[in-house]
Amino acid sequence: MKHEAWWKKSVIYQIYPKSFQDDNHDGIGDLKGVINRLPYLEKLGITVIWLSPCYQSPMDDGGYDISDYYEIDSIFGSMADMDELIATAKKHGIKLLMDLVINHTSDEHKWFKEALADPKSKYRDYYIFREGKDGKAPNNWRSYFGGSAWEKVPNEENMYFLHAFSKRQPDLNWENTDMREAIIDMINWWLEKGLGGFRVDAILNLKKPTNFYKSYPADAEDGLSSISKYIANQPGILDWLHELDDRCFKKYNAFTVSEADVPDRDLIDYVGPNGVFSTTFDFSYSDIALPSNGAWYMLRDWTVVELRERIFNHQLKAQKIGWGVQYLENHDQPRSISKYIPEADRNDTSKKLLATLFMMLHGTPFIYQGQEIGMENITTLNLDDYDDIATYEMYDRALIAGLSKKEAFDAVVKRSRDNSRTPMQWSSEPHAGFSTAHQTWLKINPNYTTINVASQEHDTSSVLSYYKKLIDLRKAANPYSEVTIFGEFVPVVYNQENIIAYQRVLNDQALLILINLSNESVVVDVDKTFKYHVLDNLAPSKIEDGELVLKPYQSIILANYI
Ligand code: GLC
Ligand code: CA
Repeated sequence: MKHEAWWKKSVIYQIYPKSFQDDNHDGIGDLKGVINRLPYLEKLGITVIWLSPCYQSPMDDGGYDISDYYEIDSIFGSMADMDELIATAKKHGIKLLMDLVINHTSDEHKWFKEALADPKSKYRDYYIFREGKDGKAPNNWRSYFGGSAWEKVPNEENMYFLHAFSKRQPDLNWENTDMREAIIDMINWWLEKGLGGFRVDAILNLKKPTNFYKSYPADAEDGLSSISKYIANQPGILDWLHELDDRCFKKYNAFTVSEADVPDRDLIDYVGPNGVFSTTFDFSYSDIALPSNGAWYMLRDWTVVELRERIFNHQLKAQKIGWGVQYLENHDQPRSISKYIPEADRNDTSKKLLATLFMMLHGTPFIYQGQEIGMENITTLNLDDYDDIATYEMYDRALIAGLSKKEAFDAVVKRSRDNSRTPMQWSSEPHAGFSTAHQTWLKINPNYTTINVASQEHDTSSVLSYYKKLIDLRKAANPYSEVTIFGEFVPVVYNQENIIAYQRVLNDQALLILINLSNESVVVDVDKTFKYHVLDNLAPSKIEDGELVLKPYQSIILANYI
């Protein structure tokens, strides 16, 4: 069954709705804006949209703090707009995935409000309330964003609630059957609308230990211990997830991609033939620069050899167990060009190289809005200009760890999640054609005058056109579509530290992908069967006497047939 799955042939495009297109001139992107841009997305060739949350929310964490799962937040429009979006997208051959955020709600959700207002209410047990110990929180867990994972309940003696993310995102108590039933109803209600499925947020965290009263070894200067070690992928979680699959996802043949850093040994339970999700995101190469305690103010150096190992490793295990998804960017990551390529080498060539590297891997590709035109990190904001809550938490953590204000701020500029959340750059008009409001909710990257859709749309050598070509390779009419989608990933290892090379093989069809991730020319041997050029990010190179010169940042796709 999973073999014929529709989503294997999909190319997915992530929209962060606040930043995609503002239709009603208030400086914030909205659903009507998305509808207006569907022709653009169809032309690009994508077939599925993953829409980051647009449910009712106080926007403490960009909408990942939901106060009503059954409402669209008024900044984005209405439920009628959502229905129109689903229907219109369908006409453009595009399915919609919503973000499913069920580890926590907003503190403004009616369940949590009831739980606070009346400790005897049944909603109290929908969340995780515990008494403190020795005048302090039950334990020293650090939330994912920083600071204690426990927040004191106002007006109650010695009482705390658990939040793995911000203190305005209380964790739900999955042990509670009524709460689980309510979530199941909600998921089916949405699937009934005709969604393609869900991107499932922070899902590994549902199961909490029964005893919270322990002291854990601190893993940083703040005396706290990262919560991920204690709540991620705990025994018992799979029962609940299987229930969601059986009672919701399966019935609708829905695609589900989990945001879950699943350890290798458990991968089969999550995405194997009887796994709970269609597939899962891998973090091993997107977080290559992160230390294990998640403190992104201390990014580590990495090498191309290490990157290659992580990519290969992931590919080999994903294709063996199930089906992977590939991505370079999302709303939590900095822009890929700013992350993977040294400043002096950032240009259209290296952007196209990154596109080749990831789009040709085995698995369904996810493109994040703006990636297809090579949008970059924003380097011109002041600290106050940032909106993202995690940015401020990490800045504070950096200061506690002893960094100077300047060092902490430099880390923010490099890694803040707002790097990818600046508005989409459509044109060189004011506010990049994103909005006609006086001001936008987050500042626009000033490089919009040169990096924008309008300037690339009709330029066959642009990054955008290159993405289209890569997407085209997956279309049925293309002679390379079957091997690009289904071909086995086979690593090719050269004794060259800056080369990433692999083949995709399907019966007698084969592609060879060569990536030179350096600013020096490198000579590689190429099997003579790879005679045909499929795509190059620079002028095609000639193979002479079985050797090929890869120019700086050149990427080449060769085939053994035409
Ligand atoms: C996921 C989302 C992130 C959000 C967090 C809490 O990691 O991708 O944006 O802040 O979950 O919901
Ligand atoms: Ca708007």
